[in-house]
Amino acid sequence: MTELTRRRALALAAALATPALLPGTARAQAAYPNRPINIIVPFAAGGPTDVVTRLVAEVMARDLGQPVVVENVGGAGGTLGAQRVAQARPDGYTLLLHHIGMGTTPALYRRLAYDPVNGFETVGLVTEVPMTIIAKKDFPAANLAEMVRVMREQKQSINLANAGVGAASHLCGLLLQSAVQTQVTTIPYRGTGPAMTDLIGGTVDLMCDQTTNTTQQIRSGAVRAFAVTTSERNAALPDLPTAAEAGLPGFEVSVWHGLYAPKGTDAAIVARLSRSLQVALRDERLVARFAELGTTPVSQERATPDAHRAYWQADIAKWRPIIQAAGQYAD
Ligand code: MLT
Repeated sequence: MTELTRRRALALAAALATPALLPGTARAQAAYPNRPINIIVPFAAGGPTDVVTRLVAEVMARDLGQPVVVENVGGAGGTLGAQRVAQARPDGYTLLLHHIGMGTTPALYRRLAYDPVNGFETVGLVTEVPMTIIAKKDFPAANLAEMVRVMREQKQSINLANAGVGAASHLCGLLLQSAVQTQVTTIPYRGTGPAMTDLIGGTVDLMCDQTTNTTQQIRSGAVRAFAVTTSERNAALPDLPTAAEAGLPGFEVSVWHGLYAPKGTDAAIVARLSRSLQVALRDERLVARFAELGTTPVSQERATPDAHRAYWQADIAKWRPIIQAAGQYAD
């Protein structure tokens, strides 16, 4: 290589390393992220989705070198927050951390202002959280069998809290009423964070919510717990029987969570976010905190865009016939 050619090659390499001279997409990728990132939680602050998101956001911020700000946009079972992200600029600076509601919404909601399936890029799965069947601490039942009896006797005078149609607590409440073969009164909140306040205060009777929001309240005796909704007992709540042990065989619900970007977000930016999510999910402090809250991060392989999309599509296909058979829609 002549001296002139070598100098030209070096000059070109230097220029390409300067984002300002890169073509559009490459410039976006090279500079990303160069300002704070927003993660929308589609439920009120203080609930299980909020808890998971804040723990993930803290580590991603360190990895990405930019603030990762968590914003709560509750309402309509999580669809208002999802809509905000589906309609945001696909530039990698507005993300959504949502759960099983992304699997049920396409069948539950028939008139949305956004496309609940094609409105998002998947970044990666985050965690699958067990649920617990809990009650206000003076609920007149000492175990799940007695709770079932009280539900059957008192029916609509029992208040069951949830976070709106499509929320995990709504889904679990539906499955519980179906298993018990009775109907109670459901009280919707903008998230199970505020619902927990009323359960502790005794103004609502029952709730089915994720261990990430209930473990501490169960341990402290602020609420009464009847069962965990997984096939095995939960290490964070070893004395809590499974629903099967307590008399509801086959009653299993776990709440998967995923991270999303708006449709059209550049693939290289999505890949950078997925790598950052994987860093978060193997962070020792996050793993330890998840364990205290009764859950674990998904494997690194599942925290990828393709694995997340495959799981999500399968979940949509699973819930659609169930919801259509029940004929219960949100709108
Ligand atoms: C929350 O974060 O408030 C819950 O995930 C709501 C729900 O889905 O039950």
